[in-house]
Amino acid sequence: MEPEGVDAWELSIPRTVQFGWGRFGDVSSWVAALGSRVWLVRGGDSLDQTGTFTRLNDLCLAAGIPVETIKRVTAEPSVSAVAESLRQLYQRSTDGVVVVAIGGGSTIDFGKALACLITTLTPERLNNLKEIDWEDTVIGYLEGVGKGYTIDREPLPLIAIPTTAGTGAEATRNAVISCSLRRFKKSLRSPLMIPRVALIDPQLCVGCPVEVTKCSGLDAITQLIEAFVCRVRRPLVRALVLDVLPAAVRSLPRVIADGSDKKAWEAMSQAALVSGIALAHSGLGMAHGIAAALGVECGTPHGKACAVLLPTALATNRKVCQVDFALLERAINPNGGGNDCVCADRFVERMTQLVGECGVTARLSHLGLRADRIEWLAANSFGSSMNGNPVLLVPDELERILQDIY
Ligand SMILES: [Fe+2]
Repeated sequence: MEPEGVDAWELSIPRTVQFGWGRFGDVSSWVAALGSRVWLVRGGDSLDQTGTFTRLNDLCLAAGIPVETIKRVTAEPSVSAVAESLRQLYQRSTDGVVVVAIGGGSTIDFGKALACLITTLTPERLNNLKEIDWEDTVIGYLEGVGKGYTIDREPLPLIAIPTTAGTGAEATRNAVISCSLRRFKKSLRSPLMIPRVALIDPQLCVGCPVEVTKCSGLDAITQLIEAFVCRVRRPLVRALVLDVLPAAVRSLPRVIADGSDKKAWEAMSQAALVSGIALAHSGLGMAHGIAAALGVECGTPHGKACAVLLPTALATNRKVCQVDFALLERAINPNGGGNDCVCADRFVERMTQLVGECGVTARLSHLGLRADRIEWLAANSFGSSMNGNPVLLVPDELERILQDIY
């Protein structure tokens, strides 16, 4: 049989991925290898409650490395928050600086945005230093709404340390940034933005609030599925997803029930990492496409929005994804028997049940969406994620789908 040929592709992942229980203890060695001081971008209260923030300080102090907290991230990154940090920092020396971003996906995305924009926006590029419109400048770099500016300088070295098992932001080349004024959520994107080091210690997830665990875990699972069935098909992505999804599906209920289950946290952290690698190399689908617009309209956190939309996305794509859904079902349950049709149906049912067991609503009205905003939601869900959806939809079709789950 003739070989089918292979489309051009690239592989961009962190130069170093350190994965394992207890690896957080290596953080000061990595900082010392990349620089001499830390600009810390950190998550919110849970870092204090788990002692992670104190431990980071102690480890760096013992190694003679000064740590300066640059930003405490308590919400998904906004244009104004990123602009404000840049305004405060752009005239300061970056000699020896290593950006350490420790927290959930929002924190890591903030760190990625800061690390790349601070080197790209050199003083020579900022025309009038007294009257810079920082927000306009940041927007200029965003895809879809910007001015086509590109990240073209090596960012500050970034060590990404996730404390949730969810977004996979430690392995992706984009940072999602929202603007409430202009009502969008768009990405800053460049291969240069991939963190230099992804330090993944599943132990840091112990103590994560259970609601965050549910939603971030379902985000990772949604990313794995959408990347697997995406219109852009990459063998590397599909092989990785087939390998990690079964363990993630089994482990999410376990970490929800028992927040100290070591093996289950390891499986979830690995699934999150792989989901980031997967989405960066193939793409996503309609759950993520709608989730961005839903976040803008209702303020629904990303993971929750994806979880709400996953069952609908699976049902919509079922007709063209029978073989792929059957493959995923057989990977999860090799002894289930049945033909592709039976297995695909079982997969949709299994995932819908998992979302329900996590207590996630199936209704958009429960998220505060107004009925008269469904048309807007449908029209604004067609960004880069939707381009990967197996079933090609038009806004009218999507509006009917959204009506059904209102
Ligand atoms: Fe996601």
